[in-house]
Amino acid sequence: MRWLPVLPAETGEEFSREGQPGDAPAGEGLLSEGACDEHSVRADVEAAAGAGIDRRVYFEVFGCQMNKLDAELMLGVLNENGYQLTDHPSSAGVILYNTCAIREQAENRFFSKLGHLKKLKGERPDLVIGVLGCGAQNHQHDIFRRYPHVGIVCGPGEFLRLPQLIDEARSQGQVAALDLDTPVRFERKENLGPRPRHAFVSVMRGCDMACTYCVVPRTRGPEVSRPVNEIIEEATVLAASGVKEITLLGQTVNSYGKRLAPGRRIGLQHVLYGLNQIDGLERIHFITSHPRFMNPDLIEAIGSLEKVCEYLHLPVQSGSDTVLRRMLRSYTMDHYRKVIDQCREQVPGIALATDLIVGFCGETDEEFAETVKLVEEVRFNGAYIFKYSERPGTSAAADLQDDVPEEVKRERNQVLLGIQKRISLEANSESIGQETEVLVESLSKKDKTRWSGRNRKHQIVVFPSQGDEDLVGDLVTVKVTEVTPVVLVGERPGKGS
Ligand code: 5AD
Ligand code: SF4
Repeated sequence: MRWLPVLPAETGEEFSREGQPGDAPAGEGLLSEGACDEHSVRADVEAAAGAGIDRRVYFEVFGCQMNKLDAELMLGVLNENGYQLTDHPSSAGVILYNTCAIREQAENRFFSKLGHLKKLKGERPDLVIGVLGCGAQNHQHDIFRRYPHVGIVCGPGEFLRLPQLIDEARSQGQVAALDLDTPVRFERKENLGPRPRHAFVSVMRGCDMACTYCVVPRTRGPEVSRPVNEIIEEATVLAASGVKEITLLGQTVNSYGKRLAPGRRIGLQHVLYGLNQIDGLERIHFITSHPRFMNPDLIEAIGSLEKVCEYLHLPVQSGSDTVLRRMLRSYTMDHYRKVIDQCREQVPGIALATDLIVGFCGETDEEFAETVKLVEEVRFNGAYIFKYSERPGTSAAADLQDDVPEEVKRERNQVLLGIQKRISLEANSESIGQETEVLVESLSKKDKTRWSGRNRKHQIVVFPSQGDEDLVGDLVTVKVTEVTPVVLVGERPGKGS
């Protein structure tokens, strides 16, 4: 059973707005796996059979790909317990929000929605409203106080207990589940994601880093890797069910393996070697990598394994060593540049994407100019650009001043977006006249006469549809005829337009 609607590749991806984690990056098309736009996972279904209990669930997801995968796993356990999705809050017995805490703006969006549910709960006292994920973990102490109509507050460490929590909320009114110490263990039975031939697979959860601006270590807890064989088994099941492309997920995906087998060095490359042998699987991506953990073995695996795509999302955050120090990023620009050089040497044509934060505490004009220089120099294929947003509970909020004025943040954001847009257009233009292999995802949302999909570099490619053919999930060759900073447009050789 498919639960989540198929989203076209270019969903809402405007070029010029400020990035959201998971958003279309500047130069998007290249990257949207890193991006996380608010996105609603709703589908039409009949009301579930359930003895007196309303098991219809309305579900919304905010935030990154990790949150979307968590949402899928939550839906999996709910489904096993007889719950079904419904497409509107007013027809639901349970309303769940899987929330994001990474920036204030992301939080405000779900808080505002939460406020609006008060009236509905007043009309239907048996309605269960749940706040899940990073926002729940982060605001665990004040959600029930500010929103007394909420029945469940559940962090990212306990969502597999959702059916039980819903029952408890029904009987007790309010219930909180915020343990981060017991690793989440799950066995994926089927792909419930929005794209039938693509699946996310988590290789690790949590984060051991201490970036001063970031709330994630606080909301998701320390890093825990899944055993290699468990990941391979899950991917094998998914491939047997028709999945052709897998994106491995981890907060610092390339530090995978830590503490897994004391005395032995297990790394992400071991997972890649295993996945590369799975019949039916055609493409492998992984997000998001940390510059400190890029290593020669991993780069060699990317270059040598035919199913591993030529694409790397490597957030740099700033081009200035002094800012990186204040961020506690644990690498220098010199290291970052060397990593980029190694990747380009060993993986010819690799597409590189990054994340950048502008206006971090104390960022001077000179420090920002170093970021501009880096972007001009490296020529990323795409970048997610964020204005610094102070997060309560982080060490930057405690120890540093959020002293860059909002209009300076906005201006720096615009400057970088403009530069990246030009670079992405120039980089995309190099594809004109070339053929590229596209995994077709859906008809284009903006133009139903065109198919939309992605190539191995994660670029969005659109091309004309013909008659009533159904190419979803097919790998087709497209010759690129024109480009924008975010999309390659082309046609299938021999098919005309
Ligand atoms: N403010 C702005 N951007 C942030 N990010 C993480 N925390 C913050 C914050 N407090 C960005 C980083 C990270 C991406 C997922 O979100 O660039 O790589
Ligand atoms: Fe946050 Fe840094 Fe961990 Fe990424 S590596 S999730 S930015 S603390």
